[in-house]
Amino acid sequence: MVSKSVIMLLKNYSIFLLIVYIVVRPISTTNIVVFIADDLGYGDVGFLGNNTIRTPNIDKLASDGAILEHHLAPASVCTPSRAALLTGRHPIRMGMLTHNIFRVNIFVSSVSGIPKNETTIAKSLKQQGYNTAIIGKWHLGLNCGSRNDFCHHPLNHGFDRFYGIPLTNLQDFGDEGLAVFTSRLKFLPHSYVLILIITAFTSIYLYRKNIWSLISALTFCLIIGGLIYVISHYYTHLKKFNSIVMRDFEVVEQPIHLDSLTPRLVQEGKEFITDSVKEKKPFFLIMSWVQVHTALHNIRSFRGKSRHGRYGDNIEEMDWSTGEILNTLEEFGLANDTFVYFTSDNGGHLEERGVNGEVEGGWNGKFKGSKTQGAAEGGIRVPTAIRWPKKIARGTRVKQVTGLMDVAPTIAAITDAKLPQDRVIDGKNLMPLLTKETVEPVHELMLHYCGISIHAARYSGDGGIWKLYYYRTKWGPQSHECIHFVCDCFSDRDMIKLDVPQLYNIEEDPYEDRLLDIEEEKYADIVKKINKGVAEHRSSIEPSPSQFNILRILPRPWLQPCCNFPFCTCKDQKYAGKNLELL
Ligand SMILES: *[C@@H]1O[C@H](CO)[C@@H](O)[C@H](O)[C@H]1NC(C)=O
Ligand SMILES: *[C@@H]1O[C@H](CO)[C@@H](O)[C@H](O)[C@H]1NC(C)=O
Repeated sequence: MVSKSVIMLLKNYSIFLLIVYIVVRPISTTNIVVFIADDLGYGDVGFLGNNTIRTPNIDKLASDGAILEHHLAPASVCTPSRAALLTGRHPIRMGMLTHNIFRVNIFVSSVSGIPKNETTIAKSLKQQGYNTAIIGKWHLGLNCGSRNDFCHHPLNHGFDRFYGIPLTNLQDFGDEGLAVFTSRLKFLPHSYVLILIITAFTSIYLYRKNIWSLISALTFCLIIGGLIYVISHYYTHLKKFNSIVMRDFEVVEQPIHLDSLTPRLVQEGKEFITDSVKEKKPFFLIMSWVQVHTALHNIRSFRGKSRHGRYGDNIEEMDWSTGEILNTLEEFGLANDTFVYFTSDNGGHLEERGVNGEVEGGWNGKFKGSKTQGAAEGGIRVPTAIRWPKKIARGTRVKQVTGLMDVAPTIAAITDAKLPQDRVIDGKNLMPLLTKETVEPVHELMLHYCGISIHAARYSGDGGIWKLYYYRTKWGPQSHECIHFVCDCFSDRDMIKLDVPQLYNIEEDPYEDRLLDIEEEKYADIVKKINKGVAEHRSSIEPSPSQFNILRILPRPWLQPCCNFPFCTCKDQKYAGKNLELL
């Protein structure tokens, strides 16, 4: 009798303890801030050796923590790279890579974006009680079927707040006369004219043959003419339709006032931190800078101040804005226990030029190649630093291969957040490397995709870090630039399929000057190992529908966001009349 009631009591007591544990268990209070620049090159920052550009805030962040020297983007373009950062998964597993030349979202009214069933690190952190926000560029899609389903929107991917641009910055947004389609696809206007002429002749012919009445012929001409007008108007007015700022689900500005965008992003970031502190909640903030992608605009205080033209001015403004957020952490006494990560979504875009041919893209230091190229080092090795004074020693250098995919698993490890268990997570927890607990490589093999094609692979082992190319980019004479503005992954227009793969020791020869002889036994073995690893990787990929097939990325008029139909023109009222220079 007695023992029974004791057992009952113990049972109840342990349930009670369990409940107490669940309620009061110490939740992580480490805040997380991620800065992600757009198209910033390895050679564009002071902490990696640039002595003519001023990036004091980013440099201090780097010197107070760890510099990741060998940090790689999983793709040389924005959208897939960002999807990988948020999920810890290779973009190939999410249908974020494609077999056509459009590898990123270009229209805000397309249906491509990060799949609904992916779990971002923001979603996992929310379950840990974090306040979550992304301020700035999203570029991972908006809607799926209707104008308000917002299936790809940040607020449906674990974020409590969003202020920024759902798409990306584009040359068209800058009023300099540059346009991604019409400046480069020079045949576009001609093809409209050609279709119109063919239409006119067809109608005349059918009318003369008495097959069509005059009314039918005229109607046909009017319909085709009207369609052509609408399509060509759309492609020449990308700014009107695609240049929008949203606050959560609402379009608050159209087109974007680029000059004042950065200080507004800073203000929104500061407000989010302040609100989280007031609510006594840990926070996860992504400051996703719209810079340093073209069109290049900034506030007056930074105009004409750098030694590298408008591109340099934009870097310096981006550095200032990064400093503003870091100062806010400092003011609240949060700097010691905030994990801060700074990176770029891909390398600098060497082929980017202004109207007068001036350089408007980034510099990848001595690394060869550029954004949009398959596996060229300059397009994927990104300037990266991590600061977390509580755990990471000042002056740490991480030389092992790491990448954007490691961000989500690292954050999960330090906050106890749960990543999904039912799918492959490619990223690794970097804390053991960052704290010098280990020097072992975390990635034995890294794949370098161009669209859905594997252009190269990188292997850490056998006493080195090796890079094996299956495809190379076709470069212009005496340069590492692609012949075209956007490099194609599949046709021999821009790439060379290698009959014999090319091997480099990327650790000893980071700038890839010395091609190794793969006939030599030692290197032949390494090539064999890499080939085997690539084959295993290929067979581990479950087919998923591509988000970027040509039909999905095309604009759909019925999904077009517009703040006040039919004008689609408005300014963010929150900042009306405010002097943004002084914010
Ligand atoms: C610094 O960055 C600018 C802007 O990209 C570039 O033009 C310049 O060559 C870089 N300088 C060095 C020393 O890397
Ligand atoms: C932050 O950490 C450093 C070094 O661990 C320490 O000297 C400093 O007092 C800490 N600051 C705060 C505000 O806790």
